[in-house]
Amino acid sequence: MDRIRIVGGQRLNGVIPISGAKNATLPLMIASLLTADTLVLENVPRLADVRLLQHILGNHGVDVMIAGKRPGEPDNAGQTLHISAKTIVDTTAPYDLVSRMRASFWVIAPLVARMGEARVSMPGGCAIGTRPVDLLIMALEALGAEIEIDGGYVVARARKGLRGGEVKFPKVTVSGTHVAVMAAALANGTTVIDNAACEPEIGDVADCLNKMGAKISGAGTPRIVIEGVAKLNGARHAVLPDRIETGTYAMAVAMTGGDVLLQNTRPELLQAGLDVLVKAGVGIVPTNEGIRVSRNGSALQPVEVTTEPFPGFPTDLQAQLMALMTRAKGTSHITETIFENRFMHVQELARLGARIHLDGERATIEGVEKLKGAPVMATDLRASVSLVIAALAAEGETMVNRVYHLDRGFERLEAKLGACGAVIERISG
Ligand code: UD1
Repeated sequence: MDRIRIVGGQRLNGVIPISGAKNATLPLMIASLLTADTLVLENVPRLADVRLLQHILGNHGVDVMIAGKRPGEPDNAGQTLHISAKTIVDTTAPYDLVSRMRASFWVIAPLVARMGEARVSMPGGCAIGTRPVDLLIMALEALGAEIEIDGGYVVARARKGLRGGEVKFPKVTVSGTHVAVMAAALANGTTVIDNAACEPEIGDVADCLNKMGAKISGAGTPRIVIEGVAKLNGARHAVLPDRIETGTYAMAVAMTGGDVLLQNTRPELLQAGLDVLVKAGVGIVPTNEGIRVSRNGSALQPVEVTTEPFPGFPTDLQAQLMALMTRAKGTSHITETIFENRFMHVQELARLGARIHLDGERATIEGVEKLKGAPVMATDLRASVSLVIAALAAEGETMVNRVYHLDRGFERLEAKLGACGAVIERISG
């Protein structure tokens, strides 16, 4: 199993290119099941989750062709995927595949919408809480699907096709909103989704679906209206920048000090995250090329933050912010409201000398003078990268074990940080 070795104490200076968003790429790839034509996705990140989803879609008969690097194209350019779900050979998504990536459960929506049936394994447990699928099922039922739970599988049937309906989510859910939008795109009649998630990835998928011929309005607001169409076509779409990768590197620079341009990204994708960094004393300047992040000499100020659905502070940056606040001059509080049990990084950060006290969903972080390198264990995707951030500022060597979690969501992490002066290397095996 690969490990990452980091020797802390270097400032970061230079340019970090931001990749396409993992959380938009996955639903976009799944949306390819809605059409028999080819969907071309550009700016796709090279990630383990993308490869795994390619494999999962292959099981349904989907061909994914990855275009080679064009002459003169830089190493950091995203990939182009040509995805064709011309013939769907199987409407079952088995446990051994779905359990490896929760988002693959979402295939249930395009499969039942296009094929009239889907049999998808329940995803099972997860390191960051129970993460149920009840609201996804509720949305499909609202569109006329008959649902049965059979041997650990959710079976959805709509022999005569789905019909438009009203979906009112009792709580904001990204997965529920993706599923409802994809299913409604091919339903007969109009669907209204209330209390929809407003995350930018929802808007990106809706934009792509509209290019494919869907009639979706209001994506990015809490009320989405979808007029179903009989058929969708192919399209070409470039994935939007990864706001979580952007925020993660912004926090890394805030942690070490230095001056870095985060290239190919946009501030409005993570305004709440950037506002918190400004309060902490970090320099944030939007430019034509991206976002410039700097901290030179000034101390980090403590912050009070609560995670919320977009446009609030994202849960996917909570662990990274906590790592940053371990070095603040004073006491910070972070409250996690989206996922229970999303504090797995706390114990590992403590191994580096962090002082964090947990009380239910609220963490109190007392800033310390210094962190000290130690062997640590990655537990989930965002938690792992918080350990990297802490290690970049820790005295001496930190070995991050189980980095396959990082490879699920961060493209060329060690190359991107190394190019800005971090002492970081991957040790294979
Ligand atoms: C997505 C993101 C993940 C991010 C999360 C919240 C992807 C691939 N993943 O996850 O990185 O952390 O949004 O921004 O895009 N819930 C229910 N019932 C359901 C569905 C969800 O109770 O049927 C609950 C969840 O347990 C959680 C909350 O709703 O407490 C939000 O979950 P959701 O927004 O659906 O997260 P995901 O789409 O799984």
